[in-house]
Amino acid sequence: MASTSSSPSSTAVSTAPAPVIILDFGAQYSQLIARRVREARVYSEILPHDTPWEELRERHPRAIILTGGPESALDGDAPAMDERILKSGIPVLGICYGMQLIARDCGGTLVPSTIREYGHAELSLNRGRDSTLFDGVPEQSTVWMSHGDTVTSLPPGFQPLGRTGRTEIAAIGDDRRRIYGVQFHPEVAHTAYGRNVLRNFLHTVAGIEPTWEMGSFVDDAVARIRAQVGEAKVICALSGGVDSAVAATLVARAIGEQLTCVFVDTGLLRAGEAEEVTAAFREVMHLNVRCIDAQERYLRLLAGEVDPENKRVLIGHEFIKIFEEQAATLPDVRFLVQGTLYPDVIESKTKDSKAGHKIKTHHNVGGLPEQMNLALVEPLRLLFKDEVREVGRVLGLPEHIVNRQPFPGPGLAVRVLGAVDEERLRILRAADKIVREEIDSAVELQPHPWQYFAVLTPLKSVGVMGDGRTYANLVAIRAITSEDGMTADWARLPFELLARMSTRIVNEVQGVNRVVYDITSKPPATVEWE
Ligand code: XMP
Repeated sequence: MASTSSSPSSTAVSTAPAPVIILDFGAQYSQLIARRVREARVYSEILPHDTPWEELRERHPRAIILTGGPESALDGDAPAMDERILKSGIPVLGICYGMQLIARDCGGTLVPSTIREYGHAELSLNRGRDSTLFDGVPEQSTVWMSHGDTVTSLPPGFQPLGRTGRTEIAAIGDDRRRIYGVQFHPEVAHTAYGRNVLRNFLHTVAGIEPTWEMGSFVDDAVARIRAQVGEAKVICALSGGVDSAVAATLVARAIGEQLTCVFVDTGLLRAGEAEEVTAAFREVMHLNVRCIDAQERYLRLLAGEVDPENKRVLIGHEFIKIFEEQAATLPDVRFLVQGTLYPDVIESKTKDSKAGHKIKTHHNVGGLPEQMNLALVEPLRLLFKDEVREVGRVLGLPEHIVNRQPFPGPGLAVRVLGAVDEERLRILRAADKIVREEIDSAVELQPHPWQYFAVLTPLKSVGVMGDGRTYANLVAIRAITSEDGMTADWARLPFELLARMSTRIVNEVQGVNRVVYDITSKPPATVEWE
């Protein structure tokens, strides 16, 4: 996968000197390295690998990290770096391709490997070659490898620091010149002590204090938004989710009244949700919000439609129509705020190849710009979800917004299976409220489910209540554990908790006489039922 940084992309803007430069050789993981550097509370900037030395020097870097890359350093036209980097006295850490470049450029030998090494490997540190780079790392640890070429002889001045079963020279270092190379990827979560290696490099080898904070990201983002937008008007669609809420709050902090937010109440929201989020937008986040009551409009639109995909498409198109109507009433709107995150940036690159296997049409505010002639403001583009939550906290957003569970763009319409009407929405809302109340109050649950909700099925079944027969609706409870919604497992909820939810739903929600629990993982099922 290509890197994002053909132009400079930074973890913040260059209003401050960048202590760490990440030189990007086309790595899949450049932003992940930047993220790990942020976690170590150090500011970094990603620059293309061929950035001239003069430009690098102007930034006064205190350390340079060379990323991995898809090429072979043995190819004549392989991406290279300015040779003055390795002579500058600045500490350098080369990762994968970066280590191979160091070995090659400093006089070692690099060969195409007959054995390729991908995935897990066991790293053994070489005894008697203690290096600060591996402080606190056990003699044996799991690392993640992904390489073809291999270093077979060391450049002068370097020590071999570690090996794996297949790679004799898997880490190298010259403590005197403070130049290091690791063949594995310390930035990925599968490398057990990867964070230690990066921290050792940044704090101990390069002597950089951990002083960077998310607050600095906010200050820099505000400056950058002001520079981008100038005096123009900006519009933002709020979904109630954390990404659009954080993006809008950040933009509002930068340009205040120039930003107008639009929140569409489709009538497909959960119990109390529209009131709760609009109160938060206005009173806590001080956003200039237009709340559009489109409940009737959506009920009419969906009347009688039972096909899940048609429902999704209708809802998405109507949303765009409403948003365009609103934008047309605002003079001089030139920008659209989007809560795009880094994983969305990666995902959109693979959009074409995924299109052939569409599972369902996801609707979110990300579909807007294709239809509208507006430039994008995407202040969260380089962040990961948990970092966005942290930015939200720095901005003072309430916890219930920051920690909100994911909610599908088409709302309860994809949880009322089959036709959607007011009565069925009432039943689902009431059942869903009980599920949320009970799971929210079960604080001892470990792990706490990632997402949980009720589904109203199109089935009716026979029951007995009092002395009478009932023939009423079947409600399903869905609770999953997941990291990102891409894959999921059903949550092993305690029977007592399931019993409480079931008893309350059949007693408190008129029209329901049976409750089932969904015990399917994703895949093969999806999280939502439609
Ligand atoms: P599925 O049902 O695709 O859901 O397994 C995965 C995650 O995505 C959420 N979801 C959506 N989010 N727009 C969104 O922004 C949508 O149209 C949409 N559909 C599903 C779902 O709740 C789960 O977290």
